[in-house]
Amino acid sequence: MRLVLLGLPGAGKGTQGEHITEKYGIPHISTGSLIREAVASGSPLGQEANGYISKGNLVPDELAIRIIHERLQAPDCAGGWILDGFPRTVRQAVFLDEQLALSNSGVQIALDIRITPEEAVRRISQRRVCSQCGAVYHLTYYRAKGKGVCDKCGGDLIQRSDDTVETARNRLDVYMVQTHPVVHYYAQSGRLYSVDGEAAIKDVFADVDSLISRFAEPTAEESVGGAR
Ligand code: AP5
Ligand code: MG
Repeated sequence: MRLVLLGLPGAGKGTQGEHITEKYGIPHISTGSLIREAVASGSPLGQEANGYISKGNLVPDELAIRIIHERLQAPDCAGGWILDGFPRTVRQAVFLDEQLALSNSGVQIALDIRITPEEAVRRISQRRVCSQCGAVYHLTYYRAKGKGVCDKCGGDLIQRSDDTVETARNRLDVYMVQTHPVVHYYAQSGRLYSVDGEAAIKDVFADVDSLISRFAEPTAEESVGGAR
């Protein structure tokens, strides 16, 4: 399965990406997370990216393309992947199509998780993430069981530096200008699907799952059953 997750900041790309990985065992690749790791490590790439990410602007296409190109070469991507936050410009989408055409393994589903800008701000301003494993929580909608610590690894929960209301509003503007055209790009080639992202997390996943299962390879048992 080769899937691209689209949607406003806070739409639930990371949350649904994790659920898909749990069920289907394919890697969930978030360019935002990869960039934040680079920033935290203090690498030259991270230093370059920090000036953009901290203001809620996109990093230059060349940088994002370099990151994803490298990541897609890793062996765990051989059986498919979920891209979260890439492509974010039409130029990135064209790059991805051209690159994947070389191995005849193009994007099958571009899934737009739809929420309103008002809901996006509500979610972003109350989001907390694990400083160790990156797990995502929400102070109202999806609370960790322990106070301020991650259910999965016990790491401290923190607020992302770009999760202030002001930066979030800039990220929404950037999305409308630079990323929304990507939705049309996939619509034109018949690969665009959408789900209502404002439903409860488990209900959004039920919709996502039913879409993915239409594309998933049948198991050996199903193939035999179907042949009868
Ligand atoms: P990135 O990390 O991708 O941020 P984003 O697109 O702004 O998206 P978010 O991570 O904020 O939201 P999400 O959709 O993952 O929602 P989540 O599941 O966390 O990118 C950050 C930055 O990196 C960019 O601004 C840019 O600078 C740079 N960058 C990254 N990729 C780039 C690229 N390709 N090119 C250039 N620059 C790039 O959910 C949000 C909250 O809501 C959570 O608290 C969650 O618990 C809650 N929630 C989720 N679903 C539901 C639900 N159904 N109901 C109630 N609450 C929910
Ligand atoms: Mg995310």
